[in-house]
Amino acid sequence: MGQQAPVQADVVEKLVSLCKQRGFVYPSSEIYGGLNAVYDFGPLGVRLRRNIRERWWRRIVDLRDDVEGIETAILMNPQVWVASGHVQSFTDPLVDCTGTCRKRWRADHLADERRARDKPADAPGCPECGGALTEARQFNLMFKTFIGPVEEDAAQVWLRPETAQGMFVNFANVLNSSRQRVPFGVAQMGKGFRNEISPGNFIFRLREFELMEMEFFCKPGTDREWHEYWCRERLSWHVDDMGVREANLRLRAHEKSELSHYSTATSDIEYHFPFGWGELEGVADRTDYDLKTHMEHSGRDLSYFDVQTNERYIPYVIEPAVGVDRIFITLLVDAYDEEEVRGERRVVLHLHPDVAPVQVAVLPLSKKAELTERARRIEHDLRGNFATEYDETQSIGRRYRRQDEIGTPLAVTFDFDSLEDHAVTIRERDGMTQVRVPIDGLHAALRDQLGTFRTRAGQRAHGGG
Ligand code: GAP
Repeated sequence: MGQQAPVQADVVEKLVSLCKQRGFVYPSSEIYGGLNAVYDFGPLGVRLRRNIRERWWRRIVDLRDDVEGIETAILMNPQVWVASGHVQSFTDPLVDCTGTCRKRWRADHLADERRARDKPADAPGCPECGGALTEARQFNLMFKTFIGPVEEDAAQVWLRPETAQGMFVNFANVLNSSRQRVPFGVAQMGKGFRNEISPGNFIFRLREFELMEMEFFCKPGTDREWHEYWCRERLSWHVDDMGVREANLRLRAHEKSELSHYSTATSDIEYHFPFGWGELEGVADRTDYDLKTHMEHSGRDLSYFDVQTNERYIPYVIEPAVGVDRIFITLLVDAYDEEEVRGERRVVLHLHPDVAPVQVAVLPLSKKAELTERARRIEHDLRGNFATEYDETQSIGRRYRRQDEIGTPLAVTFDFDSLEDHAVTIRERDGMTQVRVPIDGLHAALRDQLGTFRTRAGQRAHGGG
């Protein structure tokens, strides 16, 4: 192992540049100057996002008996958002600086913004320039658009700010078309849109982002128990499935003043970002708020009849909700490391082997055809079983460094000896150790080594290794 250097506070800036250079994240429509708080994802970013989604779906839907997956539309009947309370209450308090900088702030973020600039949290005036601030006014975060050719109120619809409402309005459909009984959950993932006043910190707070949410319907009175259960379950997923270090996570119960309009209790799973503790996931007790309000507004019966107890009730809902982009930045920050290796700086992402965009890189030692042809064939053979990449550009040292930077656990090198001994070298990311293995035993050797990586990722996440 190389000697560890302390990770600097500017790790987010370093990640912004690494992400662009290596093809994880690009500013959206960059050739036109970009669009604030909207990003595109490159070849490696897409792989990482797919892994995040797949691991979430596997744990929340595939491995359980009591959760069904659905996909609902981004555009919904506008009455949904009236009933849900979003038209009335999905607002942030906004203040404007009347001084020199003229910046716009969220009134409830002023203290944090001042602290971030090394100013007293209760200092009067604008966090940036100290200028006077206007009175707070409420600003609705939903984006509006119009159905059809005429931009009139009657044609107005909203881009959904959460996927949750799609699951509430389909509660009866799922209940009647599946064999689920309460308690059970409905899960989905998809894009959400919020006209955030103060987006920022790279992809931490975006205007277009992707949500993964699950509404767990349970009997009133059992909701607190389920809330605790889902807090534990989701924390465990971040640590065990994503490999996030437990020491950087905490569970924080919302103060009354922070609660969303629909919730009586919410706990955030927070991550210790370089810019402070920030929400990674929210686990909310939404009570019967949503089903009740949709019953009232739609006139449809969304109550549940329990045939075992002969009781009719409106289920309560526990909702774990997390953003793919939020997990994405968390994984990168948590995995980022810099080391001194033989006088040179090595950047390495210690990603869990099941989320790493590339699991096995295949590298011919040189560009000579006798090596590249065989190496390509090996990479083709591995494709069905591992996330692979073939790379023949640059020196082998630089290619190893690139794989370290994108978090690839294993690199297979085909060299001139391979032509004679029918063996290749496997080099691993964290300790940079190398072993020689016969090509006909390569699959098994890679499977074993990835298994070792999984164990190590678990130890790292739980505070060992
Ligand atoms: N349905 C509940 C709900 O939407 P939320 O706490 O507003 O709850 C859930 O959002 C999660 O979505 C957050 O914990 C965060 O991971 C992610 N998220 C929220 N706003 C975001 C934004 N502007 N950009 C990126 N991710 C966001």
